[in-house]
Amino acid sequence: MFDVDKVRSQFPSVRCQQAIFFDNPGGTQIVQPSLDRINSYLLGCNANHGGAFKTSIESDQILAEAHAGLAVFLNARSPDEIVFGPNMTTLTFMLSRSLAKTLNPGDEIIVTRLDHDANIAPWLTIAEDRGLTVRWVDIQPEDVTLDMEDLDRQLSARTRIVACGYASNAVGTINDVRAIAAKAHAVGALCFVDAVQAAPHLLMDVQDLDCDFLVCSAYKFFGPHLGVLYGRLDLLDRLFAYKVRPASDEPPGKFETGTQNHEGIAGTLGAVEYLEGLGRQLGARGASAGAGRRECVTAALESIRSYEIGLQRRLIRGLMSIPGVTIWGIANEESLAKRVPTVSFTLDGWHPRSLAARLAESGIYTWDGNYYALAVMERLGLQETGGMLRVGLVHYNTEPEIEKFLGLLDRIAGGS
Ligand SMILES: Cc1ncc(COP(=O)(O)O)c(C=O)c1O
Repeated sequence: MFDVDKVRSQFPSVRCQQAIFFDNPGGTQIVQPSLDRINSYLLGCNANHGGAFKTSIESDQILAEAHAGLAVFLNARSPDEIVFGPNMTTLTFMLSRSLAKTLNPGDEIIVTRLDHDANIAPWLTIAEDRGLTVRWVDIQPEDVTLDMEDLDRQLSARTRIVACGYASNAVGTINDVRAIAAKAHAVGALCFVDAVQAAPHLLMDVQDLDCDFLVCSAYKFFGPHLGVLYGRLDLLDRLFAYKVRPASDEPPGKFETGTQNHEGIAGTLGAVEYLEGLGRQLGARGASAGAGRRECVTAALESIRSYEIGLQRRLIRGLMSIPGVTIWGIANEESLAKRVPTVSFTLDGWHPRSLAARLAESGIYTWDGNYYALAVMERLGLQETGGMLRVGLVHYNTEPEIEKFLGLLDRIAGGS
């Protein structure tokens, strides 16, 4: 059974700070096995890559282990399909520039209004550089879901790349990425997926999604500030890399430019090891002794998902009962499986910033504004009025935390 107290005991800041962390979509708290990996890397084998001595050899072994661990996490076919980088945004700018080399004026790229700007601006930039046409997929404003019919309208024989999100960082909507990738492939285009908001909540499986690229950020799934890119090996192999001449010509090294954040990479491995350990504790199918790493990660994410669905049901029900609250996104109980527990709303008479500050006075950390999901805020007409207030839950949050938040919000809405 999922034991939230045991989970919380593995997050030192959650244990020690008197705060309710609902700011998770902006970054989660770090888990102890991740911290341990960072410490032991820096203390035990802090060295540059490719040396003939012990610490450098051990450092390279840890980097190799981390590529393998992230391949397990994302279900990539090979560790060579995993590229580490500073963050998702930088990796996306980097990869988009490499892809731009393969594109010609008049080629088309599809982006969506539901995405974080980190999965829009890089594509707009290469479009400007290379004379490409950008096509936008709209949302259905009623429940802030992607308009799949509009996607069909935007696709054509000229489409080269479809860039989409897996889960919205603004309103929590999960996109049907498998269907989007299939539609992209049907017209001969590549599918690039931003999984930053999905990774802490859903089991990542690049083979099942059949996407070509997928990016996520370790600091959103209990690790340090670091970005991770999955790319299909044949594509990474073929693509041009902006790199220095002595560096490797092979993936992933050719895309991991300069000296990497080794301790961050070690810490990212630690975050995946935490999930494996959680899955093992929960009794991954056939787990006890010899369950594979992937089975353990699967068990952990399945259990996290069902726990979080319960939390988000309580949160959404509570919000709906408070006068003056408007939830932006899926609120229908039957459709909760189509969202992650990132819930955004506005409260009549309150600017989101003032509301976030009021909640913070009581130790409840939420986020306000557009969270860089600029296109969706503009589409919903909320950009001018301060965006929304976002409550983002993860598996270390609890029902009592939600009750405390709802109680306070109810009092605020009632004027006290
Ligand atoms: C959905 C989504 N995509 C991309 C990003 C950017 O990620 P990074 O900070 O790793 O560049 C974020 C960060 O909030 C995000 O939520």
